This record gives sequence, C-alpha cells and structure tokens, in this order.
Amino acid sequence: MNSKIVETEKLSRVFVVGSEEIRAVDRVDLTIAKGEFLAIMGPSGSGKTTLLNLIGCLDRPTGGRVLFEGRDTSGLREKDLDLLRLKKVGFIFQTFNLFPTLTALENVIFPMMIAGTASRQGDRRARELLSWMGLSRRLGHYPRQLSAGESQRVAIARALSNEPLLVLADEPTGNLDSRSKEEIAMLLRRINSEYGTAVLLVTHDPGVAKVADKVLRMIDGRIGDRP
Ligand SMILES: Nc1ncnc2c1ncn2[C@@H]1O[C@H](COP(=O)(O)OP(=O)(O)OP(=O)(O)O)[C@@H](O)[C@H]1O
Ligand SMILES: [Mg+2]
Repeated sequence: MNSKIVETEKLSRVFVVGSEEIRAVDRVDLTIAKGEFLAIMGPSGSGKTTLLNLIGCLDRPTGGRVLFEGRDTSGLREKDLDLLRLKKVGFIFQTFNLFPTLTALENVIFPMMIAGTASRQGDRRARELLSWMGLSRRLGHYPRQLSAGESQRVAIARALSNEPLLVLADEPTGNLDSRSKEEIAMLLRRINSEYGTAVLLVTHDPGVAKVADKVLRMIDGRIGDRP
C-alpha cells in the first residue's frame, strides 16, 4: 500500500502577466504521507495558495507534476479531477465559502449528494459531523445567522463529509478572533488524530502552526524545512 497521499515533483506554476513572468511555485518537491499534519508558513505572495491549489488539483502546473496516491494527475481529464477533489480532498478557506442559501445541515449534506450518497445516510453523517463540532443546535441556521467561528466549523464539517484523505486549509483562522482561532486549530488537530486525515495547513499565525507535526517555510515559491 502506498503510504504517500501526495507527492509533488519539481512542481512549478508560472504566471505570465504582460511581459513579466511570476514563478509563484518553483520546483517544489513535497510529500504528504497518510495521516500527516503539515503546516506551511511564509510571507504574503510566496506562493502558498498557488501550491495548495495545485495539490488540490484546482489548478494545473506549468512544470513538474502532482502524484495523488501514486497516480500522476497531469493526464487526468477534468471529470476525473472533479471526482478526485470531491472524494479525496476537503477544502477549507479563510472566508468559509458556505452556500448562503443553504442551512448549516444542507451545506454539509451537499457534497455527499453530489457524490451520490443515499440521502438518509448523508443526513445522518452531516448531523454526526455537526454535533461533533458542537453545532447540534445550529443545524437549521443559515450562514448569515452563524458567528465566524461557527461558520468555519460548518465549513470544516462540509470538508469532511465525503471522508477525504487530505484536508487543505488556506488560512482557516485568518478571519477569527483569538479564541475561535485556537478552537479551529485544535479541531484540525483532533480531525487529524481521530480520523487519521492528513492536513496541509497554511497559516500566518505561529500559534496555529504549532498544532502541526511539522512546519515548512515557503519563500519565493520554494519550500524548505524551518531553519
Ligand atoms: N492568477 C494569477 N495570475 C497572476 N499572478 C498570480 C495569480 N495568482 C497568484 N499570482 C501571483 O503569484 C504569487 C503567489 O501568490 P499566492 O496567492 O500563491 O501567494 P500566498 O503565499 O498565498 O500569499 P498570501 O499569504 O498573501 O495569501 C504572487 O506574486 C501573486 O501575485
Ligand atoms: Mg494565500
């Protein structure tokens, strides 16, 4: 069995803007093992979001490649990439990105519906996840009726709904007060240790990064262990 979920090989993403080339991600070799919890820190513009988007197959590299469970993703068609994202990866963003017209419960059920999970099973799992997040009393709330910390917990429940192998979190605590920040960091820690889900967490906050097993530094599109 392959214990690596993701392996990047000389992964690069160059953006061309006018006559300028921006090497947002520059020949990155990174491995994420099953159940691993990695954090990435680095200055604004160093390529962290671009790297997450490549690993999550939301964007395609201009050089190098991403292997997902040993499989080269560069040859995959859009349809297969959609399926891979839906079933294997959970995304969490700074701005939560909940569907405003769906309740908390419906937001969590949604990805399972798309994946073809039976509706009773989806409903049960969504309730379980939300109760695990301490949100049993918020099931019928719309995103505008939730606090920032609650919104992020719903978003995390949604990211976990299809039991992903990997959670990609891009500054998930960026819009939260210090107490919610700590709660969300600890929640990611618990998800990792109790479900064995691998986590790749981008953060500017050293206090949040320290819940990870290992902190990597990204500078000018390149990645290295913290000195
Ligand atoms: N679609 C795009 N077109 C052109 N340039 C882009 C695009 N996306 C990102 N960039 C550039 O690539 C570089 C890396 O951007 P990225 O968003 O990955 O940085 P980041 O490390 O996530 O920064 P932050 O901490 O501010 O979120 C930046 O210089 C940015 O301007
Ligand atoms: Mg970013």
